[in-house]
Amino acid sequence: MLIRTSSQHPVQPSEITPRRVYERRRDIIRAAGAAALLPVAGAVAQPTPANLPPQKLAGRPSELSTGEPRTSYEDVTTYNNFYEFGTDKDDPARHAHRLRTRPWTVSVEGAVARPGVYDIEKLLALAPIEERVYRMRCVEGWSMVIPWLGYSFAELIRRVEPLGSAKYVEFETLADADQMPGLRSPVLRWPYIEGLRLDEAMHPLTLLCVGLYGEVLPRQNGAPVRIVVPWKYGFKSGKSLVAIRFVEKEPLTAWHLAAPREYGFYSNVNPDVPHPRWSQATERRIGDGGFLARKRKTLMFNGYADQVASLYAGMDLRRHF
Ligand code: MTE
Repeated sequence: MLIRTSSQHPVQPSEITPRRVYERRRDIIRAAGAAALLPVAGAVAQPTPANLPPQKLAGRPSELSTGEPRTSYEDVTTYNNFYEFGTDKDDPARHAHRLRTRPWTVSVEGAVARPGVYDIEKLLALAPIEERVYRMRCVEGWSMVIPWLGYSFAELIRRVEPLGSAKYVEFETLADADQMPGLRSPVLRWPYIEGLRLDEAMHPLTLLCVGLYGEVLPRQNGAPVRIVVPWKYGFKSGKSLVAIRFVEKEPLTAWHLAAPREYGFYSNVNPDVPHPRWSQATERRIGDGGFLARKRKTLMFNGYADQVASLYAGMDLRRHF
């Protein structure tokens, strides 16, 4: 995601750094990180959240999964957007160990009959966990296939009983500068806010996500709980949620506030609606063989049109981009 700074660069952000250069850079960073971890005489290695073994989490297979080859765990957990930890793709993997994911609560507020503060353990136990392998498409022009773990967000919605006045759902991410160094930069208005229309939020594909690849969610991917909406550009999938609000008016979302002409509320993956600075007709699948690999055609609603197109019947999707 980039905020418009100049009209001189009509390139997709994914094209700015050739992947092989980026990967070499990652090797260098990794080597530097390993060197930094070498024991210093007299120092005792302390376990940190980053070097604790990952916690396993099982999920039953879901018929909503795609059978496409999965993006590697390495790419899924090191090529991230999580601006609270920095704007470079490897910043979240480098800095997110500072995030404390326990204790953690999510406040469910607004126009619901049963508002409340949910402890994360209670949220984890609310419904059976499924493995949902989803295609994900970033507005920057790259895509991945990720085996998420979680359950349909509708399970939670039904339990809190939205009132008739609830038309939208607003998602708020934690904003704590002690844990999130990226908050020192005003690149976005914090806290990060995202939103969905209530019927989009109720759609079975919309996932309350608590893990990936058989593990609890890594911090850089939005631990301990995030939303995943596979037919929309990735930025609609808010991470590390602390509040879920049922509201009457369309939420003012972080990216829309930052660049209203570039990021609309709906943000459905749509190859026919170019971003003002680049085409959205094609995408680069991460892991497809590097920078020179053939690009793929981007599909309407990211390939989920059969399931979701009816949500937008009668809407002009060029105007509601
Ligand atoms: N959520 C928060 N709180 N902050 C962010 O910067 N970035 C979004 C989205 N959710 C973001 C966020 C964007 S632009 C993308 S593409 C996805 O997270 C990336 O999710 P991933 O890193 O798990 O693939």
